[in-house]
Amino acid sequence: MKQLDSNQPIGLFDSGIGGLTVAKAIKEKLPEENLIYFGDTAHLPYGDKSPDSIKYYAIRIAQFLLDNKCKMIVIACNTASALAYDTVKDFIGKRALVVNVIDPVVKKILDSNVKLRGKIKKVGVIGTKGTIKSGIHARKIVEVNKSIEVSGLATPLLVPMIEEGFFNNKISRTVINSYLTRPKLNHIDALILGCTHYPLIKNEIEELYKGRVPLIDAADEVAEFVSQKLKKHKLLRLRGRKKPFYRFYVSDYTDGFEKNTNSFFNQKIKLEEARIWK
Ligand code: DGL
Repeated sequence: MKQLDSNQPIGLFDSGIGGLTVAKAIKEKLPEENLIYFGDTAHLPYGDKSPDSIKYYAIRIAQFLLDNKCKMIVIACNTASALAYDTVKDFIGKRALVVNVIDPVVKKILDSNVKLRGKIKKVGVIGTKGTIKSGIHARKIVEVNKSIEVSGLATPLLVPMIEEGFFNNKISRTVINSYLTRPKLNHIDALILGCTHYPLIKNEIEELYKGRVPLIDAADEVAEFVSQKLKKHKLLRLRGRKKPFYRFYVSDYTDGFEKNTNSFFNQKIKLEEARIWK
């Protein structure tokens, strides 16, 4: 690994503001870290785009984060993690650490199954069309444990619904109920929330399942994973240094985004436009 310094920021990116749920979890777990967030709002949603387009966007954004001296790049989007992780990793090489949001979740499922002595027989995954079509969760889980069945369901209405601020209300409950009662998700022993927007509707999903189905939320798992990886590379930023900074960029600025960001990051945010496509 190239000479990296713990004071360098962690860079995160997503198609929009969903990845802020991951940024928030990292900030809570590692309050000393500097963070730079990039939301590619010019190309939202990623869920419907081709793998080639996602790879193209991801490389350009990774370059932006490298230009901003990030020591680690977190692909805080399941769709981009599913379709562009290897491409980004090859592109970055030894210039920074790269983390996706799928491996930590897969690890959590496999570890839990060991703890539960093989009681996890069927795992459900919900995500964008791109993520579900890639079949990446199933591939990675079955690679290690063939006896776990993985059943994916694309839930494309959830992202626009959440982006519009429709959660914890009658409409969101109806949409969530209609998706989660589909036969594909019958008799699951755990559900992967395979999209970085979904932590915002986690309570509603929990209510629907009445606590019977454990929900695997990428944000918490990724924060833990990031912490361990930085520790391993001796890149954790230590307490007592200057106050950390948080910077938030979008590729296409509109007022609407700023309004919703607060509920995703739990703190008032000032969005800046980074004109990387203009
Ligand atoms: N946040 C993205 C993800 O985790 C989904 C949003 C989109 O479709 O752009 O997959």
